Amino acid sequence: MKVLLVGSGGREHSLAWAVSRSKRLTKLYCAPGNAGIATLAECLDIDALDISGLCEAITRLGIDFVIVGPEAPLVAGLADRVSDMGIPVFGPSAAAAALEGSKGFMKDILAKYGIPTAEYQRFDEPDAAKEYIRAKNKPLVVKADGLAAGKGVILSHSVTEAYAAVDQIMVEEAFGGAGAEIVIEEFLEGEEASFFALCDGTRAIPLAGAQDHKQVHDGDHGPNTGGMGAYSPASVLDPAMTERVMREIITPTVEAMAKEGRPYTGVLFAGLMIGQAGPKVIEFNCRFGDPECQPIMMRLKSDALEMLLAAAKGELDRIKLEWDPRPALCVVMAANGYPGHYMKETVIEGVEAADKLDGVQVFHAGTARNDAGQLIATGGRVLGVTAIQPTVGDAQKLAYRAVDLIRWPEGFCRRDIGWRAVGR
Ligand code: AMP
Ligand code: GLY
Repeated sequence: MKVLLVGSGGREHSLAWAVSRSKRLTKLYCAPGNAGIATLAECLDIDALDISGLCEAITRLGIDFVIVGPEAPLVAGLADRVSDMGIPVFGPSAAAAALEGSKGFMKDILAKYGIPTAEYQRFDEPDAAKEYIRAKNKPLVVKADGLAAGKGVILSHSVTEAYAAVDQIMVEEAFGGAGAEIVIEEFLEGEEASFFALCDGTRAIPLAGAQDHKQVHDGDHGPNTGGMGAYSPASVLDPAMTERVMREIITPTVEAMAKEGRPYTGVLFAGLMIGQAGPKVIEFNCRFGDPECQPIMMRLKSDALEMLLAAAKGELDRIKLEWDPRPALCVVMAANGYPGHYMKETVIEGVEAADKLDGVQVFHAGTARNDAGQLIATGGRVLGVTAIQPTVGDAQKLAYRAVDLIRWPEGFCRRDIGWRAVGR
């Protein structure tokens, strides 16, 4: 099979790594890819959002299967266009990707079908939103409706903070058109976890649980990022909780989407709050998590290409997944200054030595090669140093041993990835 993978992050490098071990693969292409992916695939200089450019390449190269990594092309309708060409695609249609593309749509589906989530209300103008905030008079979360690269969520501890959040999103338009509508919801208490299920339109099967570290500094301090590290499995998502999440959240959502005429295929990523009353949905994403995907792919023993293809073709009943029981843990190395302003094109050395350690994979995110052939940083999140070991503590030790072989003065990482699990 000739496969095209769309995207350029650490998530896509780990998908490329997993897919390239499949016996069914004859050739892997990636658009646009990065320096790590380029060791496994032929990279095409086409932006992930250039839908016409991607479709043209699919025809020209005779692609048999398309795997879409990021959400933006899915929300923009890439999977619809590829399906219309008669080619199987991993990733939901635009109508189904609305579960991530519109928080208001997602909340309405959950409410309509009785799926547990925070109590909420939608608003399209600030005055009514503020009236609601005044009446509630308790900590609330204010969210831009549309895609905002993970930044459109403001946790507000007081009425004044919540007013400011409404103004920032709706009046100052801090997230552009994504904030034309907002969702305001109650604060959820508990432990956060990421849950991934494969869906084929009518069925869902559990993949794995993971835990991300969203804040930039050790101890979960500082501003939110795309994710500074992750490990899988997550101990809060034990077999009993997994069964409960499937029964109370994932299966009803897949059934709801089918009933709504928006059958969901691909991976459904539920951001969950596990509290006293059980699991509640914080958000849905229509793609794998980054960096959660990296440890999950390292633990997957089954043929990744077969697995993704079965979801795309509505054949999940044929699939039985096998996992390495050992935990895997990914430490993200980011450019100094991230998630704010950071320097680009700084040189990174020592990645090969880190990669050679037994049980380690270094997945690239924002990397490229300069004219001299040196590895350089081109983004905020740059490397995902991932290790697999018999315990999460050992995986953490090995990941940091690998990190310490990498010489990159302009980069940093958190030093406590996995602290919850290691502490337990
Ligand atoms: P989201 O982009 O919706 O996942 O929100 C980003 C982060 O904000 C989440 O990972 C949570 O840590 C936090 N968050 C979002 N909604 C809530 C909520 N209702 N209660 C508590 N924390 C929340
Ligand atoms: N790591 C969280 C996300 O991919 O949204």
